[in-house]
Order: sequence, then structure tokens, then C-alpha cells
Amino acid sequence: MTPFPRRDGALHAESIALSTIAREVGPPVYVYSAGGFRAQARRLREALAPHPDIVDPLIAFAVKANGNRSVLSVLAAEGLGADTVSEGEIRRALAGGVPPDRIVFSGVGKTDAELAFAVATGVRQINVESAPELERLISVAREQSRVPDIAIRVNPAIGAGGHAKITTGGAGDKFGVPVAEALELYARAAASGAVRPAGLACHIGSQITDVAPLRSAFAVMRGLVETLRGEGLAIERLDLGGGLGVPYRPGDPDTPFDAYAEVVAETVRDLDVQLVLEPGRVIAAEAGVLLSRVIQVTERPDGRRFLVLDAAMNDLSRPALYDAEHEVVAVAPDGEGEVIYDVVGPVCETGDTLARGRLLPALRAGDLVAILTAGAYGATMASEYNARPLVPEVLVDGDDWAVIRRRPDPDAFLEREPVAEWLGSTAKS
Ligand code: LLP
Repeated sequence: MTPFPRRDGALHAESIALSTIAREVGPPVYVYSAGGFRAQARRLREALAPHPDIVDPLIAFAVKANGNRSVLSVLAAEGLGADTVSEGEIRRALAGGVPPDRIVFSGVGKTDAELAFAVATGVRQINVESAPELERLISVAREQSRVPDIAIRVNPAIGAGGHAKITTGGAGDKFGVPVAEALELYARAAASGAVRPAGLACHIGSQITDVAPLRSAFAVMRGLVETLRGEGLAIERLDLGGGLGVPYRPGDPDTPFDAYAEVVAETVRDLDVQLVLEPGRVIAAEAGVLLSRVIQVTERPDGRRFLVLDAAMNDLSRPALYDAEHEVVAVAPDGEGEVIYDVVGPVCETGDTLARGRLLPALRAGDLVAILTAGAYGATMASEYNARPLVPEVLVDGDDWAVIRRRPDPDAFLEREPVAEWLGSTAKS
């Protein structure tokens, strides 16, 4: 199933023409396909299914990729849990119907208040990333007289990913504890009696399309399970994080579902551990587009053409942050030749370039374009830079569609800014 099929030349989200959504909601708007999320969740599950060493894995969707509660509820209905990194994300997962015992709480700097919230919520596991965090969690747990399950997040000193800024497993990266410290920390957790060490976790990076670094990092994790067990420590769970990449442009390699499943299976073979995975991008990216309208085409004397959209870097920051390349397509091309454009937004920075040198059908002011593969790390990373309100989100499910995040009123951002009293009449309230 293609979440965004073309019918009679016009791009649709499942059964709904994107032009209909543009007319009724107005661009820019994120449009998601419920079937697209479900299909990816099933592809991952089906890739894991043939491996007898993988029994009833917990697939905890990384909420940072797409935290809309309707999206989380689609995924919860598919049996997915949630990987979270803040109290806000835990609240989102709960609001989406994810049961607490399917929520993993990760993150390099959880506050005491967030740890307390996670303990009180009864999440399945808190992934502890450092010795000071373990000590803080022990105090927090004692205060509540609850004994949370934890995993120790290990930094295997093997990083990978589509860009240096999204590599997390390298020795110099801030995440996790070095392999050499894992045993001591695990033993400390066990001895405290205040937390129950249930297993180990790792996550080495994102947008990984070659499984070789995953194989190496997972081998380190397997070795560590054996070492800790050799010391008499119980390891029930192994959380191998997320990281699986997706194709963004034509010609990019397809997601290596089967190779990934094999590497995962090799890792847990005969270990008798419960597997946890934390995929984000692979579940959500291809299930969303950012629908935008052409404001104008600006031509330069040297022939350069800028396609100026109403969507910008504040709505989709990946090109500006990671030089990410998203495919841009015309929603309803009318066949009048092709032109090379630099695709830009209205924000006052040169970094607000969504795509460079793209061959597209000739477009005019008012035409619609879709920026593809925007369902992960799109809306969740948006900002209000240049006082641009957060764009709405729409979910399509077959013939049904609904606005799942409203566009704020134009004055909403002023309403949350009380004027300092002493400014008196110089600021209008
Ligand atoms: N688990 C942990 C602990 C993570 O830090 C991440 C992502 C994931 C799971 C999910 O990884 P995924 O399966 O989505 O690769 N904003 C960047 C991506 C940052 C990823 C950060 N951590 C981007 O737009 O490319």
C-alpha cells in the first residue's frame, strides 16, 4: 500500500485528495496516513516474526519522532509501546492510550521531578544513563517506596547514523555509560534494593541504513550480558534502541528490515532475554507529508529560480539542521515542462532552504507541493521562529480524515505573554 498515491495525476493521502485538505484546512499542514504508520509497524513485526529467539518483543515507538496523540493511538492499537524522553512525552503516550507497562523512559538528563513522575506512573522501565542519575533515581524511588525496573544504557563506543548530529553511540557522545562502567553500575543498582535492574539498553544513532555498525554494537551488548551474568547478575531484557533508516530520495537504499531482524536475532540467540526496540523514524517518516503552497516564483537574471513556499525551516527543520534531503513533488502537475528550482521558505535566513536544484514541473503561485517523508521529526521539531504559528496536523484513515492538531488563532502567542506590569501603557495588552 502506498500511503500517498497519485490518482488521475493528483496526489492523495489514502483516499483523500491533498487539494481537499489544502482547501479545507489551508497549507502549510502536515498530513499523515494512518495506514502508512500501520504498514511500517507491520513490516517491522513481520521481519522479526520468523526468528524463534525473538519472543513477544516490545516495540516502543520513539515519541520524539511523532508525538501527536492520535498518531500514538493508531500505534497503540497496533500493539506498540512508547519510548519517551520527557514527562511531556510520557503524558503524550498515556493520552494516546499506551499502557504504562509499555512505556520506556530514556534520556540523558531526566530531572528529579520527571523521574518521580515516571516512577509514580509505573512505566515499564527507566533507562538510566549515568551514575549520578542512578543515585538520584534511587532517592526518588525510596521516597515513593516503589521499586522501578531499570535498564542501564550503555555507550558501546560505536556510533552510526545519517549525520554527525544524530550519532549517539560514539565514545565522545554524551549518551550512556562506558562498557567498563556498566558492571559496577548494574551491581550498584542491584545492591540498592531501591531499583530493580532488569537489563541493558543501547541506541547508537539514527537514519542507519547499513546494519554493519549495529551488528558490531549489538555484539558488544551481547558480550556484556554474558559478562554480567558471569558475575551472577540477572539480565532479563535487552533494549537495542531504534535507528533504522528510511529512503528519502529516489535511489536511496530501502530500509533493510530483514537484515536488521537477522542482526537482532543473532544478538539475542540463546540469551533468553526479552527484546525491546525503540524505532521512531522507520515507523513514522514515510507516513507523513508537509503540504505547502507556492507563494511565488522569483526569477533571477542569471536564470536561477526560487520556489518560495509558505512552509519554512521552522515547520520542517531537518534540511537546515542536518542538510537532510526531502523529496519535493507537485501535488497536481499540469504538464507544462520542467524547471530547476531552489525550494525556499519565507524565513529570514539562508538556511531556510528546503531543497536545492530540484527539477520539478513548472509551478505558479498558488500551486500545491508536498514535501515527502516528513512524518518523523517534522512537526515534533517545529518552532514558532519568525512568529510563525505551529502548523496543523491532519490524519487520514481510508475515507476518513480529521484535524488532529488545530492551527492556533493568530493572537494565541500574544495571549500566553502577559505584559510585565511596570511596562504600563508602553505595551498593549
Ligand atoms: N531511542 C533513543 C534513545 C533515541 O535517542 C532515539 C532517537 C530513538 C530511540 C529513535 O531513533 P530512530 O529510530 O528514530 O532513528 N531529529 C533527528 C533524529 C534524532 C534522533 C534522536 N534519537 C532527525 O530528524 O534526523
